[in-house]
Amino acid sequence: MPLFSQVDQYIEELLAVEDQDLKRARLAIVQAQWPDQSISPVQGKLLQCFIHSCNAKRVLELGTFGAYSTLWMAKAMPHDGKLITIECSEEHAAVARNSIAQSDQCNNIELQVGVALELLTAMVESNTEPFDMIFIDADKPPYVAYFKLALKLSRKGSIIICDNVVRNGKVLDKDSSDEKVRGVQRLNTYLKTCAEVTCTILQTVGSKEYDGMVFAVVK
Ligand code: DHB
Ligand code: MG
Repeated sequence: MPLFSQVDQYIEELLAVEDQDLKRARLAIVQAQWPDQSISPVQGKLLQCFIHSCNAKRVLELGTFGAYSTLWMAKAMPHDGKLITIECSEEHAAVARNSIAQSDQCNNIELQVGVALELLTAMVESNTEPFDMIFIDADKPPYVAYFKLALKLSRKGSIIICDNVVRNGKVLDKDSSDEKVRGVQRLNTYLKTCAEVTCTILQTVGSKEYDGMVFAVVK
C-alpha cells in the first residue's frame, strides 16, 4: 500500500471513524458492485468541518450515488437542518434511499431523483432559500452549468465544493478527449475569471484515486 494510503488509514482510525450508518452505506455500495467512487472517510470528515465552520443548516448535494457523502454531511448538521441530495439514476437512488432510511439522519435528508440541471433551475425560479453549502459531485461534463446554478442558490459566505477536478492529473492534458476530464477542465478555467468566489483547488491523495476538490467561498 502506498505510504499516503497508509497515512490516510492512520488518520481515518484516529479522526474519521465510520459509525454504523456509514459502514452500512459503504457495504451497500460494495454489494451493488459499483465503482469505488464515494468520498473517503477523511474527506467526509473534512466536509463535516466545513459544515460546522459555516453553521450550515441548508446543504445541497449533486450526485447522491450511494448516499455515503450524504450521510457524512447530514451527521454534522443540526436537528432542524435540511440536506437536499439529487441523483439522476434510479438504480443509485434505490440503494441511497435504503441507506438513508436506516440512518439516524433520515428525517433531515430529502432525496430528489431527477436531472440536476432541471431541478436546480426550478429551485432558482421558485426563489428557494439559499444553501449554506453545496457539494457538486455529479456527472462531470456539465460542471460549469452546475457551478453557475450553485452560485444562484448561494448567498455571501456560502461554500461550494466540487469533487474530482484533478482526475489523476489528467486535467493537465490539453488534448484530452475524455469528456469527464474536459468537463472539469472547463470548470477550473471558468473559475480563473469567476469574480463571485474566492477559491482554490486542493489535490486529494489517500485511500482513493489521486484527485482534487474545488473549495469556493461566495463573495
Ligand atoms: C467518477 C465520479 C466521481 O464522483 C468520483 O469521485 C470518481 C470518479 C467518475 O465518474 O469517473
Ligand atoms: Mg466524486
